[in-house]
Amino acid sequence: MHEVGSPGPSAPGDYWWRSAAIYQLYVRSFADGNGDGIGDLAGVRTRLSYLAGLGIDAIWFNPWYPSPMSDAGYDISDYRSIDPVFGTLADADALIAEAHAAGIRIIIDVVPNHCSDQHPWFQAALSAAPGSAERARFWFRPGRGRGGELPPNGWQSIFGGPAWTRVTERDGRPGEWYLHLFAPEQPDFNWANPDVRAEFEEVLRFWFERGADGIRIDSAGMITKDASLPEVSIDAPSGPHHPYADRDDVHEVYRQWRAVADEYPDRVLIGEVWIPDAVRLARYVSPGELHTVFNFPYLSCPWNAPALREVIDSTLALNGPVGAPATWVLSNHDVDRIVSRYGRTDTSFSLQQRAYFHSLPVDLQLGTRRARAAALLTLALPGSVYVYQGEEIGLWEVQDIPDELRQDPIWRRTRGADPGRDGSRVPLPWSGQEPPFGFSPPGAASEPWLPQPKEWRELSVEAENGQAGSMLELYRSALRLRRAEPALGDDSMTWVPSAEGVLAFDRDASVRCVSNLSAASVALPGHCAVILASDPLDGGMLPPDTTVWLRTEPQD
Ligand code: NOJ
Ligand code: CA
Repeated sequence: MHEVGSPGPSAPGDYWWRSAAIYQLYVRSFADGNGDGIGDLAGVRTRLSYLAGLGIDAIWFNPWYPSPMSDAGYDISDYRSIDPVFGTLADADALIAEAHAAGIRIIIDVVPNHCSDQHPWFQAALSAAPGSAERARFWFRPGRGRGGELPPNGWQSIFGGPAWTRVTERDGRPGEWYLHLFAPEQPDFNWANPDVRAEFEEVLRFWFERGADGIRIDSAGMITKDASLPEVSIDAPSGPHHPYADRDDVHEVYRQWRAVADEYPDRVLIGEVWIPDAVRLARYVSPGELHTVFNFPYLSCPWNAPALREVIDSTLALNGPVGAPATWVLSNHDVDRIVSRYGRTDTSFSLQQRAYFHSLPVDLQLGTRRARAAALLTLALPGSVYVYQGEEIGLWEVQDIPDELRQDPIWRRTRGADPGRDGSRVPLPWSGQEPPFGFSPPGAASEPWLPQPKEWRELSVEAENGQAGSMLELYRSALRLRRAEPALGDDSMTWVPSAEGVLAFDRDASVRCVSNLSAASVALPGHCAVILASDPLDGGMLPPDTTVWLRTEPQD
């Protein structure tokens, strides 16, 4: 791991991203500098010392570009600037410089599958004629039916409803349709078009030149399409025969992106690829392509020892041979917060079943205990790790946001059948006894863009700061130890025999991690010191839903 100070170039074999702890910062909900109720870059700048003190190595920013915000910034109208609600390009430059000075690297989000319907290219396509070069950058097609009144095919949007919207042509008549795998405000680019490829290479260079250390690639597996646009059933397996999910030709694009990243020292490309086929997932991180991908099987895995062990084994088995480090992710801005998940009777997660998960009762105390144990388990695994903002203070999913305040297009487009993702995006509580809990400055003109539960007064950074046994202090200790301890971070692990429901593994000969996911206390294995425990130990016993890091050999 690098020292605090300027993130200088890493030695070969010691690449920062192989073991980094990466903090996912959802700008809208992190800290509001100007009191309009929406987080911004000025707010982030005032909290950089908090992040440096937390002990993270890099920040991944969700999209910060100009956007009509139809999908919280994942609908970009200008890839080379900052949305005024978040600040200016000068603010981003200053933030990058300040983060670097604090030893924190910056990863930004790039969205190549689609842009905003307000992007100049899409606006130009709307004003241009069918068959024009402007339309060829997207997927415009005539409709089916006698008057073209039916969409070109039956593809459904991932956010609900049809994946096609009909446009009005210049003569005022209904005309062609365009493809949007997400919301209608997010038209899909045509990646067979050379303009699109060239443009994104320039966008990457633009941000690398400004000091971005990495790029998180949104919906990375979906960008290329079968131009014959065949029908596909909802449960068709992703892969080479799917018209848009994980097609083989996507890899050409990322080999090219890797060449661009390699023009700069020490940059990293991270793919957001939600595919169930682990063998095909490994192709994205094969030599000459992306550096890492998010580990969604781990994120979706229930709090269950054999299931977790299987995911850990398959992750390492697939990454190892291609030379890529594993990544470990417990949650993000698209899924339910981990405390709520682990407090349910069903602790798994899937994007397609959010309504079902929200219908289950939640035991927050149990969920918090498990989330603590999961944090230490996760931070002990080999590879890099993500911490989604708020995880470090134990926030839970806010499931009771009033309907009229919900913002997620998933909620609207499914007409409420899917509660959407707002509950994981509620602004952070920093201090004080009442909302906005220091999220906005005193006397702010507007309330936070989503309401904060009053109970979060107990979970604020101020409330947890310095409190032994708080989630925040657990994360601080674990991140500090992980950074200082040579056995943790990148490299290998070895399972050691353990009782049923217990996960125990060694990181070299000196550090052992033991997680008890069973319902009964188990005896601690022999050790010379306890490094850190997620909850108090019971003499020589490890209580249920507890993880401990043990030193098994005396230190020099
Ligand atoms: C994945 C992002 O994480 C999600 O928030 C977004 O809605 C979709 N991609 C579409 O860009
Ligand atoms: Ca603001």
